[in-house]
Amino acid sequence: MTRITVTVDGTRYTDDVEPRTLLVHYLRETLGKTGTVVGCDTSNCGACTVHLDGRSVKSCNVLAVQADGQEVTTIEGLAQDGELTPVQQAFHECHALQCGYCTPGMIMQAEDLIAHHDDLTEEKIRVGMEGNLCRCTGYHNIVKAVQQAAGANGGAGVSAEAGNGRPAAAEPATEEARA
Ligand code: FES
Ligand code: FES
Repeated sequence: MTRITVTVDGTRYTDDVEPRTLLVHYLRETLGKTGTVVGCDTSNCGACTVHLDGRSVKSCNVLAVQADGQEVTTIEGLAQDGELTPVQQAFHECHALQCGYCTPGMIMQAEDLIAHHDDLTEEKIRVGMEGNLCRCTGYHNIVKAVQQAAGANGGAGVSAEAGNGRPAAAEPATEEARA
């Protein structure tokens, strides 16, 4: 076992994990962050997308030990005090989901895309989202939602270091150790 300390959605956790434990399994099974889902386990679908130090990663493709000392944001860490981010709100308003299985990963990827690009055309959105698969929507409304959210953010280049369309949280991380 290897001891890791990771800040997830603003809370610091210390745990002993197997070196082979995937980040997605650590989030779901150890921390109970089941908003991050597993759609394939082979790095194809993007359902497991989270932010690692502010950039999107497929958490089925990252070992938990690789997140040691770093900051992870999951879909559960986006809304603050019940207030949705512009991306979450746009997915809601544009009906960008049906079954919702892909939605957490779609939103995390869209947040990253908007935070780091200030010239998002429809084509760039489609390319930027191509690592996230949806079996239901045909993508049209997803792309519309990302366009709407990018507009709501004033185009991007938005500083949003945490990748969530808002400034990084000022709240200090709380400590939680279970090791
Ligand atoms: S579960 Fe990670 S890419 Fe599909
Ligand atoms: S809404 Fe069902 S997989 Fe995307």
